[in-house]
Amino acid sequence: MKIRPASGVHGSVALPGDKSISHRYAMLGAIAEGETRLANFSTGADCQSTLSCMAALGAIVTRGAGVISIRGAALRPPASPLDCGNSGSTMRMLSGILAGQPFTSELIGDESLSRRPMRRVIEPLERMGARIESRNGLAPLRIRGGKLGAIDYKLPVASAQVKSAVLLAGLFAAGETWVEEPVRTRDHTEIALAAFGARVQRDRLRAGIAGGQRLHAIEAVVPGDLSSAAFFLCAAAIFPGSQLIVENVLLNPRRAVLLDVLAGMGAQISMLHVEERLGELAGAIRITGGTLRGGTIAGAQTAALIDELPVLAAIAPYTTEGMEIRDAAELRHKESDRIAAVAQNLRAMGAQVEERDDGLRVPGGQSLRGAPIDSQGDHRIAMAFAVAALRANGESVIHGADAARISFPEFFDLLSQVTAP
Ligand code: S3P
Repeated sequence: MKIRPASGVHGSVALPGDKSISHRYAMLGAIAEGETRLANFSTGADCQSTLSCMAALGAIVTRGAGVISIRGAALRPPASPLDCGNSGSTMRMLSGILAGQPFTSELIGDESLSRRPMRRVIEPLERMGARIESRNGLAPLRIRGGKLGAIDYKLPVASAQVKSAVLLAGLFAAGETWVEEPVRTRDHTEIALAAFGARVQRDRLRAGIAGGQRLHAIEAVVPGDLSSAAFFLCAAAIFPGSQLIVENVLLNPRRAVLLDVLAGMGAQISMLHVEERLGELAGAIRITGGTLRGGTIAGAQTAALIDELPVLAAIAPYTTEGMEIRDAAELRHKESDRIAAVAQNLRAMGAQVEERDDGLRVPGGQSLRGAPIDSQGDHRIAMAFAVAALRANGESVIHGADAARISFPEFFDLLSQVTAP
């Protein structure tokens, strides 16, 4: 994919449904009573992997005009291994559900997913009573589910996927399961469980669920994906005077931290409309680009921005003071080693960058040159550098741009619609 320098970003975009919420609605719909109907479901390949897995487990999935219907069922043993593709969310969260089923199933993934750490879900789920065979903590995972007992679990890593796996297993466990996280991570599982009629208890960093609760189907319009919006927000932010409206986007406070960060750095952001849908906030925002100052992202903010860090780092050279990202070692365990991938591609564009074990320091006031970019098969790296390339001198070529289909197949088309040459 070739990206030519642009002079600004203008217009409006509406985004396909949030990936995190789509996964959860699909999984819960498959185990709920009745037919769940979801409009604006994520178009990304990851959520299609979840739908296929749920169908292989016995849910009836129908794709209609703009609506996905899922008729829930008592899950049954799948005829073949469940293919999670590139999707860590599918493998980790589904493990929680499978741990509570009275059968054995196997979860497989692509090459990238087969390198990502799974011990973080194996350990708590085995404590609850499941038996899970793996390749030294890596996929494939062979899960022998069955009767589970509740646990009170302190998460060793800040991971919404692991928290979700334990809460989902908790639905099938005897007693009350609790999870405590080191810092706040996205709370879509807690919100979605409540939307499907379960009682979830929440107290600061803790969430609890009693086993044996029944779920009931929902009808929902999935809010647009905030992490996909991030690429457009950052693209508008780096061109002073650019003005872009993002419609129907997720505004859950644990996910929308990027808005505070961009506003704090000098972009102007206004809320045009906000509404609540099944416990999630969604709305329309307008961003006006300005001179971005830069800054430091660390601690709890790093966890909240985990999927937006690649694009923030990719635009950091265009800020006046540069950016420092700390406490982000988890980025090394994503679809690629995102710290190394960002550093490598920034250097290819001629930028100065310091790579650290747990983050990056990118000086500001740099101009970049167009360059060949290597997505390393990672959707967020491909899209982050398409954004950086808009303000470079000369054309860039994103190799492996097709990876965008994992979360956002429409990305390059939408980008060309809102960028001015
Ligand atoms: C997700 C949680 C995060 C995030 C991923 C989606 C989720 O992963 O990076 O894209 O939907 O719960 P971790 O839980 O591994 O931090």
